Amino acid sequence: MRNTEGVNVQRRRVLIASTAVIGAAGVAAVATPFVRSWTPSAKAEAAGAAVTQDIGSIEEGQMIVVKYRGKPIFVVKRTPDMVETLSAVEPLLVDPASDASLQPEYTKNQTRSLEPGLLVVEGVCTHLGCAPNYRPDVGAADLGGNDWYGGFFCPCHGSKYDLAGRVYSGVPAPTNLPIPDYSLDGSILTVGEA
Ligand code: FES
Repeated sequence: MRNTEGVNVQRRRVLIASTAVIGAAGVAAVATPFVRSWTPSAKAEAAGAAVTQDIGSIEEGQMIVVKYRGKPIFVVKRTPDMVETLSAVEPLLVDPASDASLQPEYTKNQTRSLEPGLLVVEGVCTHLGCAPNYRPDVGAADLGGNDWYGGFFCPCHGSKYDLAGRVYSGVPAPTNLPIPDYSLDGSILTVGEA
């Protein structure tokens, strides 16, 4: 009898000790993702965690590049003149209404954006994936002179895109540059979240 009680007391101690260990592990399991949500790891970023960028200091006409899912995202603050060119250039484009191109529904408009003055677009050529150069210089002789309204030029095989990332006719790239999901909160841009 005494022996059995001794065994039970021993078992209870073992159980209490095990529960304490599991409890500590449970706390750790809950705490870890919480901490990670403040500081996304490189792996989480590669998997698609949204990235934020304060764009308040970008000047009109300037472009910055934000990295999202390992891809360059071009962010251009378009001037009113740049926005005006988006109508004039349409006869030169393959898909001016972006019917065959990738973008969120809320950017399927002439400026392909939430706000006319801001373009957020993937900087990856839809031909074979090179990075196009930003060429806002209207009328550039090497890009078609009067037919060049400013935009992006891919140096690999000569594809051209306008200032909304829409592809010109007669170049190898088949579709417009894709637009990622993004949102704006004042000057804070979040790429990867609608
Ligand atoms: S990869 Fe851009 S034109 Fe070929």
